[in-house]
Amino acid sequence: MSVLTIDAGTTGVTALVVSENGEVVARGYQEFSQHYPRTGWVEHVPEEIWQATLAACQSALDSTDDAPTCIGITNQRETAVLWNRRRASSPRRAIVWQDRRTADICTELRDAGHEDRVADITGLRLDPYFTATKLTWIQRNDRRAWSGVESGDVAIGTVDSYIIARLTGGKRHVTDASNASRTLLFDLRAGTWSDEMCELFGVPRTALPEVVPSYGVVAESEPDDFLGLRLPIAGIAGDQQAAMFGQNCYTPGSSKCTYGTGSFILVNTGAEPVAPQQGLLSTVLWQHPDGRLEYALEGSIFVTGAAVQWLRDGLGLIDSAPQSEALAASVEDSGGVVFVPALTGLGAPDWDPYARGAIFGITRGTGRAHLARATLDAIAFEVRDVVEAMARASGTELPELRVDGGASANDLLCHIQADQLGVSVARPQIQETTALGAAFLAGLGTGVWGSTDDLAHTWKLDRRFEPRHRDDAAHRRWRVAVERSKGWAGL
Ligand code: G3P
Repeated sequence: MSVLTIDAGTTGVTALVVSENGEVVARGYQEFSQHYPRTGWVEHVPEEIWQATLAACQSALDSTDDAPTCIGITNQRETAVLWNRRRASSPRRAIVWQDRRTADICTELRDAGHEDRVADITGLRLDPYFTATKLTWIQRNDRRAWSGVESGDVAIGTVDSYIIARLTGGKRHVTDASNASRTLLFDLRAGTWSDEMCELFGVPRTALPEVVPSYGVVAESEPDDFLGLRLPIAGIAGDQQAAMFGQNCYTPGSSKCTYGTGSFILVNTGAEPVAPQQGLLSTVLWQHPDGRLEYALEGSIFVTGAAVQWLRDGLGLIDSAPQSEALAASVEDSGGVVFVPALTGLGAPDWDPYARGAIFGITRGTGRAHLARATLDAIAFEVRDVVEAMARASGTELPELRVDGGASANDLLCHIQADQLGVSVARPQIQETTALGAAFLAGLGTGVWGSTDDLAHTWKLDRRFEPRHRDDAAHRRWRVAVERSKGWAGL
């Protein structure tokens, strides 16, 4: 028995076939385009996400004789997607989680006194990051698309909902509680859509998907729509929650950091949501088939791996992301250069949608290697800021940091991270834990595995990085630089 898992990320779709031993037996990947129509705007074409999903799955299936018995789905969260329920076509591009266009809508709602109530119900905050204000923006600015929502022809969802709609030929419009909890429309404690939030953001509840548990069969793929396959869809979770599942973070206190486009540090807080504090969010981790919810505290950093991508695509400083390691290692330190990669504003713990990227300390001696080094330093500083916020929120220090995701393969980054945190950084053998977690959820939902106990053996240490020297002076300079990057887009 094996599981087909789809990880629809921000820049591309990964498909894995995972065996019942928890091993990755096949892999496919397909990138899709990023659209930046205006400063601070980020959009995706839904059809391209779907075509990338088909291509990645086909390529994974072509490279193995295993015939998967179920499907798990995980995804970039918060991104707002609209599609026609009958035709599957989308009336407009999706507005991506990184998009900053709704900063003024957030300010307007904050000035009207809604912030505390929003945080209390949803565990989140008024920031363009989340789905709801993107929908408010569409309602105000794209009347053609929104009229379809009002007439009931057009469905609203996050990327998981959209992919499931496509897999099922439009038969199912669902999302799981972990994805729903990222929209600003979900009542964290009640585990249902909040009428009060729907009204505040002007979103008709009828246009939203049905909320289902994170594992258990919810639908079947339609062979005509999905590569000739009829398979149960049995696991759904937002990518950061799925990574927690893939990292075996099943008990309160367990935590991980995923280095993807951004970096997201989650700590399992058990059966009760913790009030959001210290710039952290309270969010659903997953929902069990019997309806029980588990929660996490999350620190969301928007730009980490994307900063390395910017060195590659924006500056042409490197040809590939892994090259950043050798380039950064060619100098002893950043030579006094501090890079604040607030390319899409700042998330946790500073939260400023008007902040923009900044580079400080450039001299005539500064070279590309210093900038590469400053980029890895910045990632480690950002993670340190969130880990320290978590320690303040919980009153306890993290004993170690479990890492995963693309940039966790970078040994130099892991060393710098351990040094900055003063605790060890533990990297598992399988670093694609997001996709793995969705496979585990789907396998649990269909009996491939009986319980999380059956999955405990799948976590195997690849390497542990011990802290050496903690450079607090460098971190202090970083904090000064962060403060100076704030508010730039509002000037
Ligand atoms: O909340 C945004 C997050 O889900 C994006 O994840 O893996 O695309 O960086 P990723």
